[in-house]
Formats: sequence, C-alpha cells, structure tokens
Amino acid sequence: MKPPLLLSYVVFLIFATQSIPPTAGADNFVYDVKGKKVLNDAPYSIGPVIWAKGGGIKLTDTKNNKKVCPSYVVQDPAEVNKGGEFLFTLISEEEKREKYLQTSRSLGIDSGRPKNGSCEKWTFWQIADPDAKPPSNLVTTGGTFEEDVSCFQVVDYPKPTSPKVHSYMLQHCPYYCGGTPPVRCYNVSLYQDKGTRHLSVTSGTPFEFVFQKAK
Ligand SMILES: *[C@@H]1O[C@H](CO)[C@@H](O)[C@H](O)[C@H]1NC(C)=O
Repeated sequence: MKPPLLLSYVVFLIFATQSIPPTAGADNFVYDVKGKKVLNDAPYSIGPVIWAKGGGIKLTDTKNNKKVCPSYVVQDPAEVNKGGEFLFTLISEEEKREKYLQTSRSLGIDSGRPKNGSCEKWTFWQIADPDAKPPSNLVTTGGTFEEDVSCFQVVDYPKPTSPKVHSYMLQHCPYYCGGTPPVRCYNVSLYQDKGTRHLSVTSGTPFEFVFQKAK
C-alpha cells in the first residue's frame, strides 16, 4: 500500500528543517597557520601556537644518550626549529582520495622513510599501549597504516590560544581503526622526561598546535 502523497511530503519537510545544523556554513576542514586548507596526505610541520615554549615536533633516535629504535616523537627544544615533516593521511575507503584533511576523521601520521637509518621499515606514529605508563604510552614511529595503535584524529582545540589562527589537538583513537573496546579517545599531550618533551597520552593539558606547510 502506498502512503498518501501529502503525508510523505510533510514527513520530508520535518526532516529537512531538522537537519539544518545550527552553525550552517561551518565546515570540518583543517587549516594551516596561513589560513589555507590542509591537504590530505601531504607534508606538514606541526608546532605550538606561540613558538616561545619550544619549537616544532620532530623525531629523535636517542633517549638518555642511547640510540633507540623506533624513534620517539618529541618537541624540538629550540623555538627557531620548525621540526620534521609529517603526512596526515585519512584512512577510510571513502576518504582516502579526499583532497583536504578534515577534523574528527581517522588518520595515520607518516614520518616518511628514514634517510639513512636501518632501524625501521614502517614510519607511522603509534602508541604501544595508551593505558600503560611511560615509555609505553609515548608516541613513537614503527607503526603501520590503518592499525589500532597508529590510529589518530585531529580535533579543533577547545579553547584556542589565539582567535586569529586555527589550532588543533591530536587524539589517539585505537577503537576507530579496529581496536577492541572501550570506545574512547586519548588526548595527546606533552610529557616531560629528563628534559625532553615527548608526545604522549599521559593526562594533562592537550598539546595545542598549528599546521605549517612544508616548503
Ligand atoms: C581532552 O581534552 C579536553 C580539552 O582539554 C577535555 O575537555 C577532555 O575532557 C579531555 N578528554 C580526556 C579523555 O581526557
């Protein structure tokens, strides 16, 4: 039996009016420090909004004067340094070929292949165990794409330092890439260990950063 035509029209109208978001016009794109949309799967540096408390994020293959493998993801102590370049790559089938990065989407963060190191094959950021103590909950390389341990997302920073730039924080969301429950994300913050600031999921103020396009 066909529903009366008028009724389906009324139902459609109700849906149409309800689905208009309160902030019509807002989008989920990620913007770099110059206000340009951040590209999916392209090299960027990330660093603090105010580059006075240290420089950009980079890799280090030494910890306590010993060579380590995989590398740790840390903040450069010198504010003049932009840090390394990383590719933020959307994961889902429908989004893989998207031109621009979006907030709150599962992504992998790729450091690129090491230039001279023989240490690792895979270069995606990962967190071995977000519920463990350091060093197991520090961000390292050594992950592969589309794994629970290497599953992150970029989200808007809740209380941005400056209204003039778009700033973000990272979350580690193992469940979103096939991990086991609980369904929760872990805020990525800075964890100080013997003078080195590591990206980590130890509790604390989330690390607020901006994107800067690689030259
Ligand atoms: C993540 O950080 C935000 C902003 O500081 C905070 O509101 C939220 O409670 C934090 N979430 C967790 C799981 O710590």
